[in-house]
Amino acid sequence: MSGFPEFNYLNQALHVESVALQHIAEEFGTPCYVYSRAALTAGYHEFENAFAQREHLICYAVKANSNIAILNLLARLGSGFDIVSGGELQRVIRAGGDPRKTVFSGVGKNSDELRMALAANILCFNVESLAELHLLNQLAGEMNRKAPVSLRVNPDVDAKTHPYISTGLKENKFGVPVAEAEKIYHARHQFPHIQFTGLDCHIGSQLTELNPFMQASEKMLNLLGQLQSQGHEIEHLDLGGGLGIRYADETPPSISDYVSALCACTAQVKQRLLIEPGRAMIGNAGLLLTRTEYLKHTPDRNFAVVDAAMNDLMRPSLYDAYHAILPVKQNNAETHDYQVVGPICETGDFLGHDRKLSLANGDLLAVMSAGAYGMSMSSNYNTRPRVAEVMVDGDAVHLIRQRETIEQLIAGEQLIP
Ligand code: LLP
Repeated sequence: MSGFPEFNYLNQALHVESVALQHIAEEFGTPCYVYSRAALTAGYHEFENAFAQREHLICYAVKANSNIAILNLLARLGSGFDIVSGGELQRVIRAGGDPRKTVFSGVGKNSDELRMALAANILCFNVESLAELHLLNQLAGEMNRKAPVSLRVNPDVDAKTHPYISTGLKENKFGVPVAEAEKIYHARHQFPHIQFTGLDCHIGSQLTELNPFMQASEKMLNLLGQLQSQGHEIEHLDLGGGLGIRYADETPPSISDYVSALCACTAQVKQRLLIEPGRAMIGNAGLLLTRTEYLKHTPDRNFAVVDAAMNDLMRPSLYDAYHAILPVKQNNAETHDYQVVGPICETGDFLGHDRKLSLANGDLLAVMSAGAYGMSMSSNYNTRPRVAEVMVDGDAVHLIRQRETIEQLIAGEQLIP
């Protein structure tokens, strides 16, 4: 057992569904992101089923993994989307996603992006400041439209996660304080081109406890109650994303426990519930396949230099995040403590520290839990083309993104006279 559903050892060879990773490496090369359609589908269904009779919409957070094949699979399952840029909106549309099921978050949406989303007729703008609201009101007026808006409220709740991905504390840049939100809803007549349809919050990512979600929901319910008692009609309550996954030994609530808790906690209100899960949907449905280039032993350390690097998977370098690293072919030889590092010229370029592995030159490794915030955060640092992505479906493998070429990478650059 690998500990990751849909990724299992068969005759000591790691498989994704029915396909051996060894075959994928031979056919598509390395490094390569590999996803399991079954794992993605199971994740979506677990969310969907847990909502049972509650009116709801799942808005997958596109930033977690924005490959259009993944967006398309989710759209086919009925998913909505949470976007944070005009580029993500274009991806959703290209993937066959429904703009009427799309919400637009983010603190810095520009005029072009707001206009694009107004023209596409999206479900809702999650507005994060008074300044943004004024701009959206003006643009909607110019386009003769009424913009549907949810204010993103900052509930000032500690998500107890890495500080870089905590978003619901009052010192964070996100959302507006509860008191300000109330004032804005009261002043709604000053915004003739805005229709206030919802309330929204998102407190952070990789949360492994339910409690912060419950605290945030309660604050949102209080605000909702206040607004309703003053005659405001609020159609939906968007509780954001943030459910964590297991990378190492974390024990986050299951998807169904999380959704059931949200439903129970909001049972006294009739509003449609929206959530914006990213990581919990795709994180453990993908891995990064990489090949060992060199084994290097110094008096202090054993290094496994692999062909993937921090530009391909930034999470270890950026957040000191842990990703399990599994051998693609198991053997019974003696293990050593390895520093699994990439070819990039920085000491911060590592995928894992102190991993017990038995390795030979050329061996393949699987960096697990890399489906979310892996490819979508990758870069071309050190002029490294971005890697290929494939989707496994039973015994079939589909290329869903070609490996970038150096030619494509420098195509937009030009010399000055
Ligand atoms: N909604 C909003 C408004 C968000 O900002 C985010 C994530 C989500 C939903 C989805 O959160 P999730 O369900 O995936 O936790 N790069 C970091 C994570 C950044 C999350 C940013 N916002 C990482 O690799 O851990």
